[in-house]
Amino acid sequence: MTDLVIRSMDPDDHNAVVHLLGESDPWKTLGYTKDDWTRIFCPTPQGRDCYVALIDGQVGGVAIVKQKFLLGDYLELLGVAVWARQKGIGGQLLQYIEELVFKRTKNLFVCVSDFNEPARAFYMKHGYQEIGPMPNFLIPDSAELLLRKTAGPARRS
Ligand SMILES: CC(C)(COP(=O)(O)OP(=O)(O)OC[C@H]1O[C@@H](n2cnc3c(N)ncnc32)[C@H](O)[C@@H]1OP(=O)(O)O)[C@@H](O)C(=O)NCCC(=O)NCCS
Repeated sequence: MTDLVIRSMDPDDHNAVVHLLGESDPWKTLGYTKDDWTRIFCPTPQGRDCYVALIDGQVGGVAIVKQKFLLGDYLELLGVAVWARQKGIGGQLLQYIEELVFKRTKNLFVCVSDFNEPARAFYMKHGYQEIGPMPNFLIPDSAELLLRKTAGPARRS
C-alpha cells in the first residue's frame, strides 16, 4: 500500500526531480543531460505550474503545465521515476492535472516522441488523440507528435 500525495513543486524538490529526469528516457535519447535539467529546474521554471507526486514521501513523479497554448494548456513534461512506474502514479498525476486544466479551458495538449511507444499507448488509453508529427523537431530522424485531449469545442456556434 503506497501513500500518494500530489502537490506543487518546492525548491527542495529540485535535486530529486533532476535525478529522476536525468536517468530516464525519452530524455536521455533526446540528448538532455543532468546539467540541462539543473539549468531548467534551478530556479523553478518561470511561467509554468510545476507539480510533484510523492510516494511514501519520496519524489516519484513530476509534471509541468504551461497555461495558454492554442485554445488550451500544454503539458510540457510528465515523468514518473523508473522505480515508481506501472503502479498507477502516472495515471493519477495526469488525472490531477486534467481536473485543474478542464476547469479553465477546453483542451490539453502534449507532445510525445514517435519512438516512445509506452507513452503513446499511455496517452491513447487516457483519451488523447494524435494530431500529427513534427519531424526533426528535437533530434534528427525522429518526430514529436502533438496530442490533444478535449472537453469540446472552444466556442458554441
Ligand atoms: C509514461 C509514464 C508517465 C507512465 O507512468 P506510469 O506511472 O508508469 O503509468 P501508470 O502506472 O498509470 O500506467 C501504466 C500501466 O500501469 C498499469 N497500472 C496502473 N495501476 C497499476 C497498479 N496498481 N499495479 C499494476 N499496474 C498498474 C496501467 O493499467 C497501465 O497499464 P497498461 O500499460 O497495460 O495500459 C511513465 O512511463 C514515464 O514517466 N515514462 C518516461 C517519461 C515519458 O515517456 N513521459 C511521457 C512523454 S513526455
